[in-house]
Amino acid sequence: MNPNLNKLQPYPFQRLRDLFAGITPNPDYKPINLSIGEPKHVTPALIKDALVNNLVGLANYPTTAGIPALREAISAWLARRYGIPAPDAEKQIVPVNGSREALFAFAQAVIDSSRPLPVVISPNPFYQIYEGAAFLAGAEPYFLNTLPENDFAMDFDSVPETVLQRSQLVYLCSPGNPSGKIMSLDQWKRVFELSDRYGFVIAADECYSEIYFDEANPPLGALQAAQRLGRDYTRLVVFSSLSKRSNVPGMRSGFVAGDAAILEKFLLYRTYHGCAMSPAVQHASIAAWQDETHVIENRRLYTQKFEAVTPLLQAELEVNIPDGAFYLWGRTPMPDTEFAVRLYRDFNVTVLPGSYLAREAHGVNPGRDFVRLALVASLEECLEAAERIKKLS
Ligand SMILES: Cc1ncc(COP(=O)(O)O)c(C=O)c1O
Repeated sequence: MNPNLNKLQPYPFQRLRDLFAGITPNPDYKPINLSIGEPKHVTPALIKDALVNNLVGLANYPTTAGIPALREAISAWLARRYGIPAPDAEKQIVPVNGSREALFAFAQAVIDSSRPLPVVISPNPFYQIYEGAAFLAGAEPYFLNTLPENDFAMDFDSVPETVLQRSQLVYLCSPGNPSGKIMSLDQWKRVFELSDRYGFVIAADECYSEIYFDEANPPLGALQAAQRLGRDYTRLVVFSSLSKRSNVPGMRSGFVAGDAAILEKFLLYRTYHGCAMSPAVQHASIAAWQDETHVIENRRLYTQKFEAVTPLLQAELEVNIPDGAFYLWGRTPMPDTEFAVRLYRDFNVTVLPGSYLAREAHGVNPGRDFVRLALVASLEECLEAAERIKKLS
């Protein structure tokens, strides 16, 4: 077997199950799960209808590049959303089965393991796929701790020159999971400069781009940042998804967009990998990308929850409404694992210890003594969870 498989760490939810093994949660309380970032709002009827109305497509093998109508719908959405020229639907866009598989596959296609000691730079805490993708591509992850002290930004100036020289791929996540931080134009400028100097590819994870709390201020996107800085998309690929935007995590639909030369090779890789999107899902995705009404309603529900729940928690956790995404990332008054255990045992609420989302790097685990609360359940359940958390101290 591939020895790199041995480098894969247990997934955070496995560690959480291990942490809770043998504990019986207080039966006086109904279970509330805030640990998993799985959207729970209702899937819009227009998407379900498009899926059902296109089941005839199950009789055909789909192409890896997807149908032109899907790529054109995505291109039009990118132009509307970011105020950028519509990307070339044939060369600059590839549909993917959710951003997760694409984020993983991308490293396999990008990393040149014949060059000495390839490095993949990742935020820390981070979406676990980045690390596994790096290992299986034969690279080593280099973690940049995102902490409140640096406003949850990745400090590229702290990366040693020797590491930058070996860096082939950088994962960025904006809005970030778990902090919800949105990267500024200046931060993008710095990353682009370093990419130009050292030649690394930028994988911009934007799966939370449509979850934010100020309708007048949507998060800056990477393609948009490049445009504003007068750049083309050289060495830049963004990863976007319908899962959170349209409440369809089970549909597995997203896209990658950006550097045409990289996407040409990535498409070739994917043809062999065999990950074309089902024709019915392609049609349902077109319907989703073409509609914004359900997305605005989705944001309204999240905004309502964040505004109601955050103040209730501020006595117990150091926590603020994030820039975007649907997590509260709060500092705990006790070790994060103890907080999670006590909350589960005494009040039947499940949250994820922050240390499980991060690795020890540069002498610290930057997730330690934080917890991540996914406000995905109903407003009533989130409020009820907040009331129980208040009782913990
Ligand atoms: C940061 C981040 N990226 C990517 C994903 C993958 O989402 P999907 O594969 O549903 O697009 C997730 C899912 O939770 C995530 O948190």
